[in-house]
Amino acid sequence: MSKADVVIGCFYGDEGKGKVIDYLAGDADFAIRATGGDNAGHTIKVRGVKFAMHLVPSGLLSGHTTGIIGNGVVLNPEVLLEEIRILKEHGYDVDTYLKISDKAQVILPYHRYLDLALEKKRSAKIGTTGKGIGPAYCDKYERSGLRMEDLYAPDFKEKLEYLVASRKALLKFYDPEEDYDSLLDFEALFAKYREYADVLKPFVCDTVTMIHKALEEDKKVLVEGAQATLLDIDFGSYPFVTSSNPTIGGILTGTGLSASDIGNVYGIIKAYSSRVGEGPYVTELSDATGDRIRELGHEYGTTTGRPRRCGWLDLVALKYAKRVNGLTGLCVNHLDTIGKFDTIQVCTAYDVDGEKTEDFSTNMEFLAKAKPVYTTLEGDFGDISGVTRFEELPKKAQKYIRFIEDYIGIPITFIGTGAEREAMIVRK
Ligand code: GDP
Ligand code: IMO
Ligand code: MG
Repeated sequence: MSKADVVIGCFYGDEGKGKVIDYLAGDADFAIRATGGDNAGHTIKVRGVKFAMHLVPSGLLSGHTTGIIGNGVVLNPEVLLEEIRILKEHGYDVDTYLKISDKAQVILPYHRYLDLALEKKRSAKIGTTGKGIGPAYCDKYERSGLRMEDLYAPDFKEKLEYLVASRKALLKFYDPEEDYDSLLDFEALFAKYREYADVLKPFVCDTVTMIHKALEEDKKVLVEGAQATLLDIDFGSYPFVTSSNPTIGGILTGTGLSASDIGNVYGIIKAYSSRVGEGPYVTELSDATGDRIRELGHEYGTTTGRPRRCGWLDLVALKYAKRVNGLTGLCVNHLDTIGKFDTIQVCTAYDVDGEKTEDFSTNMEFLAKAKPVYTTLEGDFGDISGVTRFEELPKKAQKYIRFIEDYIGIPITFIGTGAEREAMIVRK
């Protein structure tokens, strides 16, 4: 019986999870998305072609890995069909290699409208991706959301009618200026979702059984985390978070895996940090250095195109991610990018009211007061783009990696040296 390896973002998303999954999928049979929806944007560069994966698991790009959209996902059929179209255009056999959980929640247009209307009303904006993620999870936990399997049930029309009417009333309350009667014409919406249901039917199945059978047959199974630890609804900087649990607990409930089914838990970080959207960010650099990281790392959102806020690596937050997720290994991406700086700062403690601490907290007052305490390391690694062997890295770059390893106490198994699929050092 095999175990599932998991990839989890350690900070605020966009750590390069897609790229690591793509690498691991080289010999994997299954890759599963467990949480979130098309708020995720996972970039993979394959032979010069850039894929932005929002819903289809990145592992499918191997060409022989079955991608499973798990029960914990909120799924926008329109976005998924467009992604399937693009993949087919590139020759991927999506019909064979994609499976969708019958329990995945369906995103409806009103979820997106509610997301936007709520954000407009908020005095302290969250900066959501506007994809309807929060409202879709609200429907799920209120127990009125539609699962994929509900699209095929005899009472689908009745359920949809109730949802559209009640949410339309809510939308009119939040945003009386907008013409929601035209935007949410029931018959048109019903017809559209009937069509989506028909096209997606061959993909829909009981993925919980499928995943467990795969483990029983000793297959290699991966789970592709979306979002990240500090965006977690419980363990992130609430309310500036997403509406799911991207941490290890969500990986289990979003797939049907049990705790004892989990093998390696890889935490993914960049050699610096970034955040898109609002909320606290202790090591943020709102200056020319932050701008330089953004430009060198091409830090613009995969999903929304927004410029990402950038800063130095935060090892205090990483220690927290290790604790919350039980990380067994790490991947550090963008070593090539950070190596372009002459000196590199790494946050090794927070100063809170004159007291030093290495323990992270999501308490807002704590985060507002926390000032980063930096250790300065040597940069200027030269051109290391595409390097694939640790021994080929200059000593200064090796030292940087070992410094993180020593602080955090877990091995750095993968090191990214470029955006291309092959630009990765794997340490056994
Ligand atoms: P994800 O959401 O965690 O999958 O990450 P994103 O794809 O949103 O953002 C990561 C960005 O960094 C993408 O543009 C990747 O192509 C790029 N990337 C990942 N690893 C590396 C690396 O080691 N070096 C460089 N230069 N770019 C990388
Ligand atoms: P990947 O998987 C970066 C952020 C949004 C916003 C907050 C809430 O590519 O790492 P939401 O639309 O989820 O309600 O927005 O979460 N956010 C992400 N930031 N990467 C992501 O995904 C994100 N998914 C959501 O910017 O701050
Ligand atoms: Mg991303």
